[in-house]
Amino acid sequence: MNFLKRFFSKESQTPHVNIKQRFELIGRVGQGSMSKVWRANDYVSGKMVALKVLHKQKTLELESRFIGLNKPIEGEIAIQLNHPNIVKTLEHGTTTENEQFLVMEFVEGYSLSFLVESQNQDMRANCLNYIIQLGEAIQYFHEENWIHRDICPRNIIVNNEHELKLIDFGLVVPNTAPFQQPGNRTGTAAYMAPELIKRQKTSQKIDIFSYSVTCYEMLTKRLPWDAAETLDAVLQHINTPPEDIQNFLPDINTQLAETIMRGLELYPQDRWQTMADMLQPLKEAFHTEQQKKEALPEKIVKPPASPQTTSTHKTSQTKRKKTRSEKNPQHKKQPQKPGKSTKNQDTYRLQPDQTSPELKSSTDSTSQEKPPLEKPPQETPSKTDHLIKKKPSSKNNPKNSDESP
Ligand SMILES: Nc1ncnc2c1ncn2[C@@H]1O[C@H](COP(=O)(O)OP(=O)(O)O)[C@@H](O)[C@H]1O
Ligand SMILES: [Mg+2]
Repeated sequence: MNFLKRFFSKESQTPHVNIKQRFELIGRVGQGSMSKVWRANDYVSGKMVALKVLHKQKTLELESRFIGLNKPIEGEIAIQLNHPNIVKTLEHGTTTENEQFLVMEFVEGYSLSFLVESQNQDMRANCLNYIIQLGEAIQYFHEENWIHRDICPRNIIVNNEHELKLIDFGLVVPNTAPFQQPGNRTGTAAYMAPELIKRQKTSQKIDIFSYSVTCYEMLTKRLPWDAAETLDAVLQHINTPPEDIQNFLPDINTQLAETIMRGLELYPQDRWQTMADMLQPLKEAFHTEQQKKEALPEKIVKPPASPQTTSTHKTSQTKRKKTRSEKNPQHKKQPQKPGKSTKNQDTYRLQPDQTSPELKSSTDSTSQEKPPLEKPPQETPSKTDHLIKKKPSSKNNPKNSDESP
């Protein structure tokens, strides 16, 4: 009861905002599992913003897990963050309907989950660059002493200037002992670290694990483990080693491959200890690949059309392919396994249900319909317009419905 009092008293500290009077709601841009997000015109600032309104009941259930711990709410966390690779939150508060809301810069771009799925020119050209940008966002986040707990492609947007932005601080907790206690099992199933699944003590290393799964997926379009659509399948993380990334990309920069695989280690003590430790070899691999690209004769590296496509990790890989497999026949490229699409695997989110965790689907519209594989021309009003007004998935089976609490 005290918790409820505190929860609502937090809300009442600021005047409640009538969303419809304050904003012109232009269109829905996405629905995560915990909120609704609109592109909106803010009548007060005159800015185009992203307005995120949190689901009241689900937020209350999540917050109720931290009774007595004085956990900051999502808006309080988000507003403190100041990094080029983290979405800027401009304001937060409570609506007249008692919902928490956040006002953010509107990021015009593509969800990373779309880029992973499409593997379009943008992704092929900038993959390693995006990996570094995401790593820097997480490093900053960890230095600010938070654990994100939900690093996955759906919580990342890449804007039209090829800048990556980490979004969604709904599951963030302080990196302090009370929040690291066993049992606090939330996140997106396929990206969850083994110790989280096993309800053991957690640390920032769960983000290092999720980041490594994300990097693996960005490079290969598949997950290190098979589909994680049921809790049993997720438990594979505990029982089987991940598929070596070099089996799918035999010509990958070895340092890059080994760095990612170490981030996927079963036991947190075997993983990279900090994001800074992991980023160091990733940056070295990035520079090596850039140098290789620069050393190639111009006619070979010249990108087909776009000036934005010069930093191509994969282009240089392509050039190395022949030499390496000739030298080392056992490194022959194995065919990508069919039917390994990752499409559904980031759509299952473990909800904050301490006693009986179930896998539940998200209704994020970003994974429902796919825009064209290549970017439309620049004059397109918004690259996220294609994400607007999409209906939540109807294909979720009852077991995975996120309607139940
Ligand atoms: N600042 C933003 N700019 C543009 N789109 C956004 C922004 N924030 C969120 N979105 C869209 O809304 C979706 C849901 O947002 P998210 O913060 O992940 O909500 P949830 O906590 O419910 O998962 C995102 O996947 C993205 O498509
Ligand atoms: Mg989200």
